[in-house]
Amino acid sequence: VRIGLLTGGGDCAGLNAAIRAAVRAGSSYGDEFVGFHHGWRGVVEGDASPLTLAETKGLLQSGGTILRTAGYHPQEHEGGVAAVLENVEHNRLDALIVIGGDGTLGSANHLAQLGLPIVGIAKTIDNDVGGTNRCIGFDTAVATAAEAIDRLQTTGESHDRLMVVEVMGRNVGWLAVCSGIAAGADALCLPEVPTDFDELTKAIKRRHDAGSSSSVVVVAEGALGGAFLGSPDGSAGSMVARELAQRTGYETRLTVLGHIQRGGPPSASDRLLATRCGVTAIETVHDHKFATLLSMSDDEATLVPLSLVASGTRPVPEPLLRVARTMTAW
Ligand code: F6P
Repeated sequence: VRIGLLTGGGDCAGLNAAIRAAVRAGSSYGDEFVGFHHGWRGVVEGDASPLTLAETKGLLQSGGTILRTAGYHPQEHEGGVAAVLENVEHNRLDALIVIGGDGTLGSANHLAQLGLPIVGIAKTIDNDVGGTNRCIGFDTAVATAAEAIDRLQTTGESHDRLMVVEVMGRNVGWLAVCSGIAAGADALCLPEVPTDFDELTKAIKRRHDAGSSSSVVVVAEGALGGAFLGSPDGSAGSMVARELAQRTGYETRLTVLGHIQRGGPPSASDRLLATRCGVTAIETVHDHKFATLLSMSDDEATLVPLSLVASGTRPVPEPLLRVARTMTAW
């Protein structure tokens, strides 16, 4: 069987582990692999090279993606879809394994509806792909952000400061909630819940009146209604820092974690998830179960329709929000 592989959208930790696992699992069936570069753009432009066991050796621990990545959607470019179909034919591919977030997998769904034999694997530090609740890269990003928040806590304490830390999360607050809970943050600002600055100020002042001399507020970049996404006039974090500094009078510092959350080696849990995804994707190809997305739980791999990615991004569910509310001054 000849299989095309691509990684699209924002990179994250664990992509290489998934590529390695797929190639190794496929090799035991005698499969051949073609790696497309820079996501769907490589399929449209025919930018590809053979992927063998040799190229994928030693990748388990490495960050990023050896296939490179890009946010590119063939259906949005004139002739893009036709070029994909042509290059799949030209490379004599029997299947495509697409590793991506909601954008890349949305394009995969579009092409799968046209008959391309596609298996999807979900990855993103945002953890928000519809149809699954485990995305490669999320666990590593939570650990990275939690460690950063731990560090901000001790410097904040030493200076009696209000520390505002902005984490990624355009549409959802998974990363803010999970890293915030894991690191014991004092307050959260999330896309899921409107931020009430009066309430937030009161909560922080209450903490300080009760004896705390510092607080850490975790802000998802898509909080405040997403008003600051891609804005040249600051970010959600800078807005929160400005407002809280003014309203509380406390000395305040802002840290934007940015792409640090995406780079670097995957956690053990992401290595395991990515490896399970790679192996399961190959089994799925050999079972001819296409237009599917792998939905992984701790002990099971379920196949769900790839069309579920089109159902929209997956917000943080209420039970987890309740835990966050209970454990922070939110
Ligand atoms: O989709 C993942 C994500 O990390 C978002 O949380 C973030 O807004 C975006 O990617 C940043 O993308 P870029 O690399 O294009 O700046």
